Amino acid sequence: MQRLLIKGGKPLNGKYRVSGSKNAALPILAATILLPDHSVIKNVPNLLDVITIIRVLRALGLRAEYSQSVPNTVDVWNNSVKHVAPYELVTKMRASFFVIGPILAIKGLAKIPLPGGCAIGSRPVDIHIKGMEALGARVKLEHGFVIAEAKKLKGGRFYLDFPSVGATESVMMAATLAEGETLIENAAKEPEIADLANFLIKAGAQIVGAGTDVIKVSGVKQLRPVEYSIIPDRIEAGTIMAAAAITMGKVMIEGIIPEQLEAVARKLQESGVRIKMAADRVEVDGSGDRFKAVDVKTMPFPGFPTDMQPQIAAFLTLAKGTSVVSETIFENRFMHMHELRRLGADIKLEGQSAIINGVAKLSGAPVKVSDLRAGAALLIAGLAADGETELEDRDHHISRGYENIIEKLRGIGGDVSKAVVHVP
Ligand code: EPZ
Repeated sequence: MQRLLIKGGKPLNGKYRVSGSKNAALPILAATILLPDHSVIKNVPNLLDVITIIRVLRALGLRAEYSQSVPNTVDVWNNSVKHVAPYELVTKMRASFFVIGPILAIKGLAKIPLPGGCAIGSRPVDIHIKGMEALGARVKLEHGFVIAEAKKLKGGRFYLDFPSVGATESVMMAATLAEGETLIENAAKEPEIADLANFLIKAGAQIVGAGTDVIKVSGVKQLRPVEYSIIPDRIEAGTIMAAAAITMGKVMIEGIIPEQLEAVARKLQESGVRIKMAADRVEVDGSGDRFKAVDVKTMPFPGFPTDMQPQIAAFLTLAKGTSVVSETIFENRFMHMHELRRLGADIKLEGQSAIINGVAKLSGAPVKVSDLRAGAALLIAGLAADGETELEDRDHHISRGYENIIEKLRGIGGDVSKAVVHVP
């Protein structure tokens, strides 16, 4: 159990450096299954989720560890791969499921536990499975495992029913070693997909179009080990932009890729936040009078990211007027709204929309963290609320996705500390 104590009401000020992207690191580490020998992945954030994927790689027979000598670097040695992924790790972190593509490509057989749902939704993997079948695999479900088999994967044509990030990644990884050409249509366009493709291309894969909705992969015989540095975390950057805005502070966020933050920057600007973008940094100036309410609808990239929906909702609880926040990607990603109400927010839920009537102020209170980005939203709200907010983060959700977040927020004036848990 982790408890974070936040003393709110102070504007954030100063410089903040973004860590490497969690959602690029996880598929790229999974993709090391495709590469023989020793690969080195740099700019990897120190996160519980990264430790989980490292444990999955170890369970599959690879050697993987954070480097003792170079910070934020993971070394992977791949001499042999087992085909069965461990139940407890895949159910602990859904993202582990996309090891199915690499294992199937290397072993011709993959046995991966069917991931359960999580707080934000049932999170099915039907599109992943259809993708493996499009490459000639036979897939069945037995005793809670997805079992995929194919002597040799064959290039095929695959149209995704929904531009699923993970399914696009699984299929793209598997297609790199398939015989012939694969066309992935209605592919997800998130920047983490292009980063995974760049990693694979550096290892000798032939991929064209990653980052667009049509990706063409020409299978090759073998890939080679590489050294690769991960892109920055656009969701961490967006989270800090919202935190600077809601506390009416002024923060320079460094180490970002501006075009990855367009939708978030535009939405904050529409509400009246002053945003200055430069080559690898963005200055957010929230000082001045109250912001105005705006409507937000989450969409696949380049639309407004669902992973920023809880954080922008927290920001809008203090905006002047009524905002409508619509979640179109996940069916149950409003858990944070109930907790924001405990801090004094005025929110009504109507199906997949939250109607947020801005209030003059939030007041600190104990709240519960249900998932990673809900935790980020409550952290932001606590920074703006009068008095103390205590986040009860039973499953350490926040540490799963934000590297050294307490130290980094304190570095820009956030009064955040780990509360000592008195076990009665
Ligand atoms: C990735 O999850 C991210 N995780 C998520 O970030 C992010 O919210 C999501 O993409 C959407 O951008 C990682 O990259 C590790 P999806 P993923 O497959 O791949 C449905 C965070 O906070 N779907 O694009 O699991 C699914 O139910 C996390 O960092 C199917 O129906 O997301 C959802 O409604 C949370 N069948 C929608 O698609 C499938 O086979 C989007 O899911 C796959 C997905």
